[in-house]
Amino acid sequence: MYYSDELVEEIREKNDIVDVVAGYVKLQKKGSNYWGLCPFHGEKTPSFSVSGAKQMYYCFGCGAGGNVYTFLMNYENYTFPEAVKALAERAGVALPQAQEGEESRRRENRRARLLEVNKAAAGFFYYQLRDKRGETGMAYLRRRQLTDETMHRFGLGYAGKNGVDLIQYLRGKGFEDELIKEAGLASYSERHGLSSQFWNRVMFPIQDSNNRVIGFGGRVMGEGEPKYLNSPETPVFDKRRNLYGLNFARKSKAGSIILCEGYMDVIALHQVGFTQAVASLGTAFTPQQAGLLRRCTDSVLLAYDSDGAGVKAALRAIEILREARLTGKVIDMRPYKDPDEFIKALGKEAFEERIHRAENSFFFEIRILEGQYALDDPEEKTKFYREIAKKLCGFSEDVERDNYLQAVADKYLIGVDNLRKLVNGYAAQTGLEKPLERPRSGIHAKNRPEEGAKRSQRLLLSWLADEPGLYGRIRKYIGPEDFTEELYRTVAERLFGELDQGAFQPAGIISMFEEESTQREVAELFHTTLPRMETGQEREKAFRDILLAVKKNSYEYHMERLGTDVNALRQAVEGKKALEELAKTHISLE
Ligand code: UTP
Ligand code: MN
Repeated sequence: MYYSDELVEEIREKNDIVDVVAGYVKLQKKGSNYWGLCPFHGEKTPSFSVSGAKQMYYCFGCGAGGNVYTFLMNYENYTFPEAVKALAERAGVALPQAQEGEESRRRENRRARLLEVNKAAAGFFYYQLRDKRGETGMAYLRRRQLTDETMHRFGLGYAGKNGVDLIQYLRGKGFEDELIKEAGLASYSERHGLSSQFWNRVMFPIQDSNNRVIGFGGRVMGEGEPKYLNSPETPVFDKRRNLYGLNFARKSKAGSIILCEGYMDVIALHQVGFTQAVASLGTAFTPQQAGLLRRCTDSVLLAYDSDGAGVKAALRAIEILREARLTGKVIDMRPYKDPDEFIKALGKEAFEERIHRAENSFFFEIRILEGQYALDDPEEKTKFYREIAKKLCGFSEDVERDNYLQAVADKYLIGVDNLRKLVNGYAAQTGLEKPLERPRSGIHAKNRPEEGAKRSQRLLLSWLADEPGLYGRIRKYIGPEDFTEELYRTVAERLFGELDQGAFQPAGIISMFEEESTQREVAELFHTTLPRMETGQEREKAFRDILLAVKKNSYEYHMERLGTDVNALRQAVEGKKALEELAKTHISLE
């Protein structure tokens, strides 16, 4: 369905972003913005800000940002038309009736089409499995003790040996080759043309939390490489931001989530009633997934493989859970490899028992650490204790740290006072007044150096968005062509155009861009932190410096292009004049 820009804007304006976001995230007003814990990545202290004035949100931690549409698209995994529909309903705006014309079909956005083609493919695989041609697949899944009901619930399917059936089916349904390829369902070669990507495998459709098929995992039946073939990342399939089984688990009443490594583990657990089980999608657990989990629980039970790789993955996951302020516990699967095998061997009750006995994640870490030291050697033992002390420093809260300190001391028969001395010593030695902050998962550490020119352009746009009243005072010196970064120029064109008309809508600007990454960049741009300024004089100087920097950069930029760009000369001459005039002019901010 295609909606006009005017309608999209009207609906956006009728849905205050602060109200909408507050329905999902606990917000607190601080200064002119609202702050909360970012729902898009795990964090302990709020770096997620929502601005009522700009009708935008931006996370200073992970860079997520956009307007009210972007928010719903990311949070609910909605396509753009779905977000429009939800917000129209919320504000009581009537939407025009769907007209299934060619035109509207063509305009429909890519994400929606990708979801459609995935859904059609899932249907195809589903029927193949239940068809005569799917016998081998069915036999395999039966051998793995899956019931018909389970296979149905998870929409399991089968991709046959014939690589063209799926393609023909999808073409017949009106999907273009280009789309089939983009969805990762087929690949193209000179010799064979378009042929199915999944071939002779049992198929696991991967659904997002709203039950839409976003990708596939296909398993060989028996031995073979790769064991699982997964869809590539597409605009609807982000492996870091989805979890297998979450569509069911979010509705589970268990109160906790069981995090496993494999699709089969999730399915086996659900089959016996543990519908709170989820798994990451063939990649390591991410902070974004922790963020997803935090929406439905505060306690996560790890059911990772019991082998070395599983333990390593669990240790990493524990860190991520801790950063996201989720309680982590570890389920001991030994002597079995994974939940699937455990359930098959010992059954549901035994697993329930293991859940009850799940180990506190800190004790798990210490126990794994213990295995690395020969404790009958005093020197090794000392090292082990030091490592414990170091880990204890990871708790920033005194009470919590002390509770753990006592518990570990008890467990490993260390004198409490000695251990406390070690902890304090360690904290002092590393120059930490307070025990150390957790190491970051990486998403925060992106203080990339940015060239000055780009930064001043960002600062100027951000400042004008904050104080649109200033525009009138500088408009004779500056125009969109002074923004040499292409994206910024596009934003400036729209921003200045709106300011000229006196109706400025930063959040509307975001809807101009289709790509999510661009939307983020624009939101980031409007949330550039202005330098700290105490006095009015400082503010004036800062503003002037920024303005001059933008203008000077623009002048140099156009000078460099004198020979190649017909407009460059005029730009450069006018730029020079403006620079000279600016140098003599006082711009008051009052
Ligand atoms: P495992 O190798 O533990 O497989 O991989 P599994 O889930 O126990 O499956 P079965 O029981 O052997 O059938 C765990 C997860 O890692 C991803 C998949 O998501 C799998 O469920 N994986 C594994 C891949 O994506 N590709 C592979 O080749 C292997
Ligand atoms: Mn397995």
